[in-house]
Amino acid sequence: MKVYHLSAECYPVAKVGGLADVVGALPKYQNQMGLEAAVVMPFYERKFVQENEWEMVFDASSLLGMHRFYFEVLKEKTGKLGFELYLIKIPGLLDRENVYSYPDETEQFIAFQIAFLDWINWSHQTPDLIHCHDHHTGLVPFMLYYSRLYHRLSEIPTILTIHNGQYHGAFNWSKLSLLPEIDMTKTGLLDWNGAINPLASAVKCCWRYTTVSPTYLEELTYRSNGLEYLFYMERAKGTGIINGIDTDIWNPKTDAMIAANYSVRQLATGKQKNKEALCEKFGLDTDKPLISFIGRLVGEKGADLLPHAIRQVIKGYPDAVNFIILGAGEIRVQDELKALATAHPKQCSVFIGYDEPLAHQVYAGSDFLLMPSRVEPCGLNQLYALRYGTVPMVRVTGGLKDTVIDYGDDGGYGIRFIQASVPDIVHACGRAVEVYANQPLMQLLRKRMMALDFSWARSTKEYVNLYESLKPVI
Ligand code: ADP
Ligand code: GLC
Repeated sequence: MKVYHLSAECYPVAKVGGLADVVGALPKYQNQMGLEAAVVMPFYERKFVQENEWEMVFDASSLLGMHRFYFEVLKEKTGKLGFELYLIKIPGLLDRENVYSYPDETEQFIAFQIAFLDWINWSHQTPDLIHCHDHHTGLVPFMLYYSRLYHRLSEIPTILTIHNGQYHGAFNWSKLSLLPEIDMTKTGLLDWNGAINPLASAVKCCWRYTTVSPTYLEELTYRSNGLEYLFYMERAKGTGIINGIDTDIWNPKTDAMIAANYSVRQLATGKQKNKEALCEKFGLDTDKPLISFIGRLVGEKGADLLPHAIRQVIKGYPDAVNFIILGAGEIRVQDELKALATAHPKQCSVFIGYDEPLAHQVYAGSDFLLMPSRVEPCGLNQLYALRYGTVPMVRVTGGLKDTVIDYGDDGGYGIRFIQASVPDIVHACGRAVEVYANQPLMQLLRKRMMALDFSWARSTKEYVNLYESLKPVI
């Protein structure tokens, strides 16, 4: 079965968050199970693109409204990622450095989707299934089924995976003319709340949709930024499949980015060496419990709560706990965190920016990983933490609820809290201090965590089963 994954991000080409990790891993594991999975993404002026060799496999021109644009499809020559990787390059639109936040983002992603469909239509590269990820690729199902231009392809099943249902990519109806010739009796399938809404349209038009955890599937029916009724009505089409992690990249035994490799056998010494290296880098005391946060500094992640909560913990537990924050995002939160680190240099270190190797070092060297997320469709950080023997402290939402059991419960290993609020974070930190003081318990939890299996093997199978359930109509 030939499957094309369409995505704005893919590790290691261009990563903003977990979407890249998933799209950079799932196809590899699908290929190991006998599928022919490939990734198609926009071209970015990025290190990976500049440092690798590409073969142009197709070029043509298409229309974006009245504007004719030229595009090229470039294929990575070696297949070293474990899947075929195609980039769509459109001079002037898709040849930039950043993934998101350009003022013409709507035009960029519509042109990407049109170029993809034109390519597979004209080159007869017909896949058996198209797997769209998030709203950036959400207009493909509609165009495929309701544009005369793609009639030849209209039997191809489409799957949508929702990594983040808070963003919809909605735009004004005045931009309808950017789409290719469509069946005007079907435009209701593009609409939500008076705008063209790519995520809503994908949910309506795709054959099946998935969310990246079972709990998130439920949550979308009561918290999805205005799409609640849609998710409620379409819920029979939805399945929740928890993400896996790429154990070739995230493995403390082989990870070249960390100070010392370790497995469950040398757990205590391995963790200690990594903690020492990390604490030395940040000028922190190795003897204290180290609680870290890694992630986008945005409201969804509860990052705005961190400055106040950490200040209270430092006050309530003087000299008893240390923090490292690695992230970038809202300027106000960045500034508050920097001010906090300046006021308490011995207890709190902040690194503003995006640093992949440092993230690995923080997972390996920390005792606890804090995730006070307001919304977390799956969350990969807690899965990486588990793999590296670092106790996740999570607010019970979405995938965090599905993957972390509180150490107070049978077989548990993490710290759960109910509210994304300062008091709940402070209370959770207090529990972390208690756990750390009980080293035999700490060792037990680490062993339990490292024995867990959140590899892609299981989740890949669930995706393949879903694809196969569509087989008779392919
Ligand atoms: P989201 O996709 O919502 O940001 P996830 O938990 O799914 O959340 O994935 C986040 C990914 O991004 C993880 O791989 C995490 O390690 C990485 N990450 C987030 N912020 C940073 C940062 N500042 N530096 C390095 N890696 C980061
Ligand atoms: C999104 C979600 C995150 C999830 C990731 C990968 O960015 O916010 O929770 O882990 O996608 O599916």
